[in-house]
Amino acid sequence: MTERIILVGFMCSGKTTLGRKLSRLLNYKFFDTDEEIKGKLRMEIGEIFKLRGEKFFRRYELYTLRKLLKRKRVVISTGGGLGANERAIKLMKREGLVIHLKVSFRDFLKRCRSSQDRPLLSKGKERLHKLLKLREKVYSRAHLTLNSSSLKEKSLLTLINSKTILLP
Ligand code: S3P
Repeated sequence: MTERIILVGFMCSGKTTLGRKLSRLLNYKFFDTDEEIKGKLRMEIGEIFKLRGEKFFRRYELYTLRKLLKRKRVVISTGGGLGANERAIKLMKREGLVIHLKVSFRDFLKRCRSSQDRPLLSKGKERLHKLLKLREKVYSRAHLTLNSSSLKEKSLLTLINSKTILLP
């Protein structure tokens, strides 16, 4: 059985919700890179972007990922930018099972509508759509892609029980 499951995907694809479920079902610990970063820096994501800049955030999230990947029996939910980073996804694939949670642009808009503390949402719809399409090319390198809108608890269990999928 793989020691780490890492979830990647666009904003509001449901990585954290699925990650928590998976961790409960597998009896693994759950981590969310954004939560780790906020806790360590004692700042909200929006504040980090504003005060330290996006470049700093991107470096810090890669550093956070590296640290989390040293742990065993963990489910890690990653911020939308990490799974779109070539270096990061290579690293994740080396250390565990990487699952891409795919979300359509329509569902993304619906789910993220009332979201707060996601600085990228200030970009216009057109730019966000382009970003999603661009990032999907990297997200799709994950070991497995699941459709976030049709994800059911039952299929999740089938997935977990499937040794072929979970073997390293
Ligand atoms: C980001 C996604 C966010 C967060 C930050 C940047 C992105 O995480 O890391 O706002 O670049 O897509 P979620 O994917 O959990 O929303």
